[in-house]
Amino acid sequence: MEVFPLFSTPLSVRTYENRISRKTLDDIKNEEYHDYPKQLDGSCTVDEQILEKYPDLKQLCIEHCAEYIYKFLAIEDHMHMDIVCSWVNKHPTGHSANRHGHTNSMFTGCLYLDVPEDSGDLIFEASYNHATWNTGTLDPPVWEDNIQNSRKWNIRPENGMIVCFPSHVDHYTGINNNTEDRYSLGFNIMLCGDFSAPTRRLIMDSYREPDWNYVKQGI
Ligand SMILES: [Fe+2]
Repeated sequence: MEVFPLFSTPLSVRTYENRISRKTLDDIKNEEYHDYPKQLDGSCTVDEQILEKYPDLKQLCIEHCAEYIYKFLAIEDHMHMDIVCSWVNKHPTGHSANRHGHTNSMFTGCLYLDVPEDSGDLIFEASYNHATWNTGTLDPPVWEDNIQNSRKWNIRPENGMIVCFPSHVDHYTGINNNTEDRYSLGFNIMLCGDFSAPTRRLIMDSYREPDWNYVKQGI
């Protein structure tokens, strides 16, 4: 039997070895942070263009996402990939990230900078409002959780890992049970350029010139 997992929500994951220097990590930890409004939800950098200060990390993020966007999703490479927003999350012991999606963004990425043991998985979830192979009306028990039948999918982060996914997908992180703080760098991507198709004209400008030297390394 052949089974086609139709209408996918692709999530890309790869771990990059030795690409984050000790100095970069120390500098990032010394950035200014402020708390998220919800309790035990961690804090984030005041600077929401953090990747502009760390070009090596920006290159790494673009390299990963260019492969996902231009190669895997086969989006034409005249569409510019613009990182419109980037910040670092800090989760002390007992903190987690509440369930959320990212608005004003097409794709979201996360680079795990320093994630101690048992400091919280990244968890994606499809609510019952989102029909997959079933809806919430009937949810039969399964003898195995797999990629075909699951509404929840966990990723165990490790240092140097990057994930990239469509921004609308709901996600959250587990509680940091380690005594060390957990650091991750989030970023949002908009595609810019000429989206037009017959009767569907749309041109979106980038406010920053795309840096094709970065992008081409991922294609
Ligand atoms: Fe997020």
